[in-house]
Amino acid sequence: MNGEPTDGPTDETSLEKGTEKGTEKGTEKDIDTGTETGTDTRTDTGTDTAGHRITAGLTVGSRVVVRYRLAEGAEAAATDFLGELIARNNDFLVVDTKTERVKLIRADVIAAKDVPPPASRPGRAHERISADDLEKLMAKGWQALDRGGLGDWVLRASEGFTGRANSALVVGDPSLPLDKAIDFVERWYSDRGRPAIFQIHGERGFVVDEVPAAAALLARGYAVGGGRDDWQRVLIMTGLSAAVPPLTEDSPPVTADAELKLDWLMAYGQQRPIVPGATEAVLTGSDGQLFLSVRDPQSNRVIALARMSIHPGWAGIFGLWVHPDHRRSGLATTIVSAVAMVARENTMPAIYLQVSADNADGVAFWERLGFGVHHEYTYLTRPSA
Ligand SMILES: CC(C)(COP(=O)(O)OP(=O)(O)OC[C@H]1O[C@@H](n2cnc3c(N)ncnc32)[C@H](O)[C@@H]1OP(=O)(O)O)[C@@H](O)C(=O)NCCC(=O)NCCS
Repeated sequence: MNGEPTDGPTDETSLEKGTEKGTEKGTEKDIDTGTETGTDTRTDTGTDTAGHRITAGLTVGSRVVVRYRLAEGAEAAATDFLGELIARNNDFLVVDTKTERVKLIRADVIAAKDVPPPASRPGRAHERISADDLEKLMAKGWQALDRGGLGDWVLRASEGFTGRANSALVVGDPSLPLDKAIDFVERWYSDRGRPAIFQIHGERGFVVDEVPAAAALLARGYAVGGGRDDWQRVLIMTGLSAAVPPLTEDSPPVTADAELKLDWLMAYGQQRPIVPGATEAVLTGSDGQLFLSVRDPQSNRVIALARMSIHPGWAGIFGLWVHPDHRRSGLATTIVSAVAMVARENTMPAIYLQVSADNADGVAFWERLGFGVHHEYTYLTRPSA
C-alpha cells in the first residue's frame, strides 16, 4: 500500500460532548448567514492564530465539536459546542447546536474537529446512523459539480455523470410546501438544460407512493426508476471495517493514490461512460478520497479498482470493479480489505456503499463480506428523461 488519506479522520472520544449552551463571550444567536445546503462559504484569507489553524480543517456542512475559550471571569475557562458548522469566514465560525445558533470567534477556538453524525437508533457503528444522515454523508462522498440547496434538499448536477450527482436528494425539510418545492427543483434543472430527477429513500422494502414527495411526483407523471432497471432500487449496504478480512502475505499489491491518475480513470471507464471534466470533478470532489487499484503483474494494467471516500468515522466505497477476465480470484476482496485497513487505521469503524438491487453479483459479494442493507432509495423521473 502507498498513499495517504487526504483528510485525517477524527476520533469522537477524545473531546467531551458539547454543553450546547451559549457563552457570554463571542456568541450570537439568530445570525442570518444566507447559506444554502451544499454551498461552502469558506473564505479563509490567511489570518494566522492557533485558533485559525485549528479551524482551517473543519468542513462546512459537517457535524463538528469545538472547544472554545470563555471570557475571563466566566465560571469555566472553556466550553464545548457540538453541532453543524454552517458557515465560516476569516473571523468567525457559525455552528447550529441542538438548541441555538452560535457565532464563535475563530481566534478563541482551543480545539476542534469534524465528528460523525449522531446515533439515532441502537446498533453497531454501521447500523445506528439514520437513513437521512447517511444520505447526507454519502452526498459528501460523491460531490456534484454544480450544487444547490432548497432547505435540507440537495440539488446536484454533473452533466449527466451518474444518477447520484444529477438528482435532487429529497431529505428533511425543503422549506417550501411540497408542490412549490417540486416546482423549484424542476426550474433548477430546466435552467441547466437537464431533466429533473428525484432521489427518494426509505427503509428496506419501503412503498414508494407512501413517501409524500414521491406521491406528489407520481401524480405529476413521474415514474419509478425512469425506465431503468438499475434505478428501480438501490441498496445502501453498510458494514464494520473491523469485520473485513485483513490483507495477507498472499494478497496482490494494492496501490492507494490520493490523486486521480489517468490509468485508474481509463480502467474506471470500462464500467461506466466517462463525461470528460465532470467525471474527474466528481471523483475528486470530496473532502478526502483515495483511488485504489490492483495491476496485472504481466501487463501492468489496472485490473481491479475502487474509490474510497473519507469521512469522520466513516469510509465510503464507490466504483468497485474487477476486469471480467480476473473475477472470482479474490481481487475485489483484496481491494475492500485495503480500504478497511485504511479505515481501521484512521478511526473509521463503519463503511458504506451503494449497489443496485438488480446487481445480484454485487449484492452477493457484499453479503459474503458481512455487509447488510441499511436502507434503500429509488429515482423518480419523467419517462421521457
Ligand atoms: C462484484 C465484483 C466486484 C466481484 O469481484 P471479484 O474479484 O470477482 O470478487 P471476489 O473474487 O473477491 O469474490 C469474493 C466472494 O464474493 C462472492 N461473489 C463474488 N462474485 C460473485 C458472483 N458473481 N456471484 C455470486 N457470488 C459472488 C463469492 O462468495 C466470492 O467467493 P468465491 O469466489 O470463493 O465463491 C465483480 O463481479 C465486478 O466487478 N462486477 C461488476 C461491477 C460491480 O458490480 N461492482 C459491485 C458494485 S458495488
